[in-house]
Amino acid sequence: MSNNLKYGSISSRESIELEEKYGAHNYHPLPVVLAKGEGAFLWDPEGNKYFDFLSAYSAVNQGHCHPKIIQALIDQAKELTLTSRAFFNNKLGEYEKYITEYFGYDMVLPMNSGAEAVETAMKLARKWAYNVKGVEPDRAIIIFAENNFHGRTISIISASSDPDCTEGFGPFTPGIARVDYDDANALKVYLEKHGKNVAAFIVEPIQGEAGVFVPKDGYLKDCFNLCKEHNVLFVADEIQTGLARTGKLLACDYDNVRPDMLILGKALSGGVLPVSAVLADKEIMMQIKPGQHGSTYGGFPLACAVAKASLEVLKEEKLAERAYDLGKKFRAALRNIKHPMLKLVRGKGLLNAIIVEPKDGNEAWDVCLKLKEKGILCKPTHRHIIRLAPPLVITEEQLMECVQILTDVFNEM
Ligand SMILES: Cc1ncc(COP(=O)(O)O)c(C=O)c1O
Repeated sequence: MSNNLKYGSISSRESIELEEKYGAHNYHPLPVVLAKGEGAFLWDPEGNKYFDFLSAYSAVNQGHCHPKIIQALIDQAKELTLTSRAFFNNKLGEYEKYITEYFGYDMVLPMNSGAEAVETAMKLARKWAYNVKGVEPDRAIIIFAENNFHGRTISIISASSDPDCTEGFGPFTPGIARVDYDDANALKVYLEKHGKNVAAFIVEPIQGEAGVFVPKDGYLKDCFNLCKEHNVLFVADEIQTGLARTGKLLACDYDNVRPDMLILGKALSGGVLPVSAVLADKEIMMQIKPGQHGSTYGGFPLACAVAKASLEVLKEEKLAERAYDLGKKFRAALRNIKHPMLKLVRGKGLLNAIIVEPKDGNEAWDVCLKLKEKGILCKPTHRHIIRLAPPLVITEEQLMECVQILTDVFNEM
């Protein structure tokens, strides 16, 4: 037990030691321990306050511990939490009606983690290919983009081009192809050759983990049209880009594309529970029959109540519009920082990244350590990129305060 703690009973140092000793070393966290969150802020056990500029990889779009979402959690937790899908429950149908009308699809398949939802979309695509498109048994192909990130299961990493994701995990799932991202022609060439057997093209509208790589305007539309030409499902993984993060409800909205399948996760629960979903119309969704797919927790009453509240908050607080406006101002202000280490600013809405040029042995990681000392938490991706993605409830004044902190940190590097 340590003294002088503001939150909890374990100090930062002790917490790190416990994780190092008893937890698998599958992450390399920034050396900060978090004990409390509210809105755009986080606090460590000792009471130091930080701006959150990661938002748990865009799961906390609505802000930490949003009162309405937490109230929905508490109210539902007192009534009923889990029934499994062996029975009906009085929350699932209501939530399914709400989310399908919200996004304009016939049906939803509820899951928990993002990876599970991507797996679900892959399975639905294969079923559709065999039952509707008429692909010969076991010949279906799903196309992904180079540098994608869709999760960590064996099938999903079978589509990855990142050695960290794949090395030592083979053998991989067959029936997967990759084409260059942001190059509709690459998809065209592949489809012209193999389109007959292709079930789906699964793509991130902006590649988040790859470093907030924003494709050209019209790329998604071009890919969508190519998919239509070849009777291939266009599937958008909006787990990170969706739910107001990029300044629209969905990042696909920028290109006026309505995906055949929409994959959601992360902010679907405002960072409260693992809640994910696949949305599609009947022709696709009805290909999965009772007993063919599911999850014990998928669509559990607690998740339904929390997800409905999380979606309501997005609309009530106009978070997409906020992200759009604040994002423009944020990028403009960042581009005013003149420093040799700051090479490029890119993003949409409040999903942004700065590309860092190493200088005097300092890399993106060192910038993040300095930012932490000054009260901003963010995490490098790929050594030279820092994602900047605060909760969408951050105010303009707070955002500009952070620009000043970023400016000071670069000036000190
Ligand atoms: C685009 C995208 N898809 C899928 C996932 C996987 O989600 P989860 O970590 O909940 O399995 C992520 C996670 O970062 C993601 O960014």
